[in-house]
Amino acid sequence: MRKGILFFLAAGVITLMGATTVFAASKPNGNVQELVNAYLADARKNDPSVKGFSAEDGKKFFNQKRVHSIKKVEMSCVNCHTTNPMQPGKTPVGKVIEPLAPSANKERFTDTKKIEKWFKRNCEGVLQRECTPKEKGDFITYLFSL
Ligand code: HEC
Repeated sequence: MRKGILFFLAAGVITLMGATTVFAASKPNGNVQELVNAYLADARKNDPSVKGFSAEDGKKFFNQKRVHSIKKVEMSCVNCHTTNPMQPGKTPVGKVIEPLAPSANKERFTDTKKIEKWFKRNCEGVLQRECTPKEKGDFITYLFSL
């Protein structure tokens, strides 16, 4: 009988812990969710087989390295943001960049204009083109998964 109660209590604690984790995870606000939905609609126009975004693909995208065709140097998002989005990064002139992960910096990914502005600038800088809607959606999904 006692064992039964203990088991019941333990199960309750585990359930509570699970529920707390769900509440602790940050979620995009309404405007940012709309932007992500629009990325998904666009991504599906390019490739109807796209079912949704992938945090794993977003992580790969963030860590990929390529050589800039004009500057002839290795470029990557992680050059400035580091491989850990929970940590601050640095610009080439040494200015601190606050962490990109919303769980480490609650101002991140709250303003759609800011998001689009920096995607445009940083994608051009690293990839020499705009990022695709799939890349942007995967990347945001990755950051909100941290
Ligand atoms: C040359 C340095 C540099 C590189 C490389 C770089 N970024 Fe950034 N990024 C910045 C700076 C500077 C900011 C703006 C300052 C801030 O918001 O703290 C920023 C901000 C952002 C933001 C705005 C997030 C928000 O809503 O606050 C996004 C999104 C972003 N970067 C994505 C990327 C991606 C994706 C890549 C790779 C394709 C990348 N960055 C590469 C320097 C860089």
